[in-house]
Amino acid sequence: MSDRIIVITGASDGIGRAAAEALNQRTDTTLVLVGRNPAKIAEIGERLGCDYYACDYARLGDVRALAVTLAEKYPVIDVLANNAGGVLSPRTVTGDGYETTFQVNHLAGLLLTEELLPSLRAGEGTIIFTSSMAAFQGSIELTDLGKEKGWTSFGAYGAGKLANIVTAKALQRRYEGDGINTVSFHPGVVATSFGSGAGLFVKLFYGSWLGKRLMRTPDQGADTLVWLATTKPGVDWRPGGYYAERQLKDPPKQAQDDAFGDRFLEASELLIR
Ligand SMILES: NC(=O)c1ccc[n+]([C@@H]2O[C@H](COP(=O)([O-])OP(=O)(O)OC[C@H]3O[C@@H](n4cnc5c(N)ncnc54)[C@H](OP(=O)(O)O)[C@@H]3O)[C@@H](O)[C@H]2O)c1
Repeated sequence: MSDRIIVITGASDGIGRAAAEALNQRTDTTLVLVGRNPAKIAEIGERLGCDYYACDYARLGDVRALAVTLAEKYPVIDVLANNAGGVLSPRTVTGDGYETTFQVNHLAGLLLTEELLPSLRAGEGTIIFTSSMAAFQGSIELTDLGKEKGWTSFGAYGAGKLANIVTAKALQRRYEGDGINTVSFHPGVVATSFGSGAGLFVKLFYGSWLGKRLMRTPDQGADTLVWLATTKPGVDWRPGGYYAERQLKDPPKQAQDDAFGDRFLEASELLIR
């Protein structure tokens, strides 16, 4: 039997790197690792003996180029873990014209996912989104996706992570007939490099000795991702579901509105076409 192909983004650090290290122990898996920083992703890629790619989600052209390379090399993909992301401050706009937190946490991962759909269909693949309980503090305004009004760092991050849950559910409805399954999860509050691009409060909390003592380790944060990537949708977990610590949870209110989810997915797709 051929290896399962698992693509992990945000694999150069934190939760994604810990997931890659755990999944690399398996003998039935070929890992494909994606990170932003070329030196960091090369370090883990070489160390684990995996194929690896650098790609900055703040540049949609880079994401498209990555997708072309991956689709050519991997005509069958079993798992795509959309894990890259983070909280940013101050508000910036990418060269593509979108608010950076929204693009990095949502649009770029959606673009990669949609460009890899043929490979995911061929693998009857699982698409995993690393979301966050910050989604419960987020809200999405279809007429102001970039939060031009009232932007805050955490508000934009919460909206991006809510977008992950909404997108997972909407993609599930649309593609379940193709054998594709999607899921989102909250990894816990995890001691990683998360927050290094954020405002002072988040940076201080994540960087402090006390903060690190209170938080989960990257291995613990990666546990649900690894579990979702290695178990059976529809048997071990509910397709389209939102998970934390391997348990199905109620998603935020906006993510429970399917009509809104479909409209949001379509609005997002208009931005990446
Ligand atoms: N840590 C937490 O408490 C926590 C809680 C809930 C959810 N999350 C989510 O978990 C995921 C992983 O975060 P983490 O905690 O592991 O943080 P991390 O240690 O900072 O890792 C973030 C990963 O995302 C990549 N990334 C960041 N910006 C990127 C960009 N513009 N383009 C491409 N890749 C980019 C980073 O690449 P480089 O390292 O190469 O720059 C890194 O591999 C994120 O989606 C985050 O929102 C984290």
